[in-house]
Amino acid sequence: MSALAVMREDVPGPRPCAPDLHRGRTLSYERLETDVAQKLDLMFGRANSLVMVHPGRVLMPPEYQDIGERISQLQVRPDDVWLVSYPRTGSTWAQEMVWLIGHDLDFQGAKQLQQIRTPLLELSAIMAQEKGAWKEELDNSVGMVEAMPSPRYIKSHLPLELLPLQLDSVQPKVVYVARNPKDMCVSYYHYCRLVHNLQGSFEDFCELFLRDRVPVAPVWNHILGFWKRRNSPNILFLKYEDMKRDQEGAIRQTAAFLGKTLSEDQVKVLAEHLSFDSMKRNPAVNLEPIIAKKNGPEFLATTELRFIRKGQVGDWRNHMGDELATRFDWWTQDHLRDTGLSFD
Ligand code: A3P
Repeated sequence: MSALAVMREDVPGPRPCAPDLHRGRTLSYERLETDVAQKLDLMFGRANSLVMVHPGRVLMPPEYQDIGERISQLQVRPDDVWLVSYPRTGSTWAQEMVWLIGHDLDFQGAKQLQQIRTPLLELSAIMAQEKGAWKEELDNSVGMVEAMPSPRYIKSHLPLELLPLQLDSVQPKVVYVARNPKDMCVSYYHYCRLVHNLQGSFEDFCELFLRDRVPVAPVWNHILGFWKRRNSPNILFLKYEDMKRDQEGAIRQTAAFLGKTLSEDQVKVLAEHLSFDSMKRNPAVNLEPIIAKKNGPEFLATTELRFIRKGQVGDWRNHMGDELATRFDWWTQDHLRDTGLSFD
């Protein structure tokens, strides 16, 4: 985009919401530092690409202002099942597992797009800039969630600070997924290129990632918010690396959490459905039908980029030099000291 940091002056300044509309939370919106905002705008190809949402200092597209309040006040139901994660942690994979266990392995039902079966609550804000008929199926994500019959399976990449207030009082089941931040960053970079047409080098993206200046940052606050609650009976904290090491174990653990019993044969059938190769081929989860509608049917033939991409632990080694990897390690250690949390 040539219009470098287009008209930052046009970006709305902090926009507090009327406090009398709220119970227990006041959302406000702040512009990012000029140098960061300019860099992000160039990379994401739009002016005012991200704003900082309070509480939580969370970076979201400005359109979050249109739905943030409704999300805070969303009516949570006791039989909801939530899947929450920072982006690129294996959430689609984990959600497929959760949905299928919750639906007694209804593989026929699982042929419907995962984005319809279990909508991403904040999707309307993330896709606000997109155009095209495909969007109509998935737009109004908050409305979709509000209108879903129970039991609802809901996905979100929002941190605790922005999730519905009633999550605390109603305490539905929440599965949280976390991943080694180096692999997560590599995966996020590729995803942003595929879905948001991100321009710029991996190194530039890492700089922003390490400064908590990428969409949905800050990372550690997101992960630790749920890690601290991992012993609550309504929360299951999963790690990508554990699912990878022992898919069947993760299935059994999740089934126990959801109060379901699976035979060993069912565990094996589900593990096969969830294998990387099978997920990569599965149009209900690999996002390819949506990408083809969004970017045109020929697009996927012209790029190597894929939503279900590599599925490996340690792919960061193919992308990061020693110095960058060490910076990630220090950053991780700084945040995880005395928390008991670690990643492979
Ligand atoms: P990579 O980009 O490292 O391959 P999310 O669904 O939260 O966006 O996470 C996407 C990441 O999960 C991608 O990581 C994707 O390939 C990986 N993934 C998806 N399905 C998987 C599976 N069945 N096994 C292993 N990894 C999987």
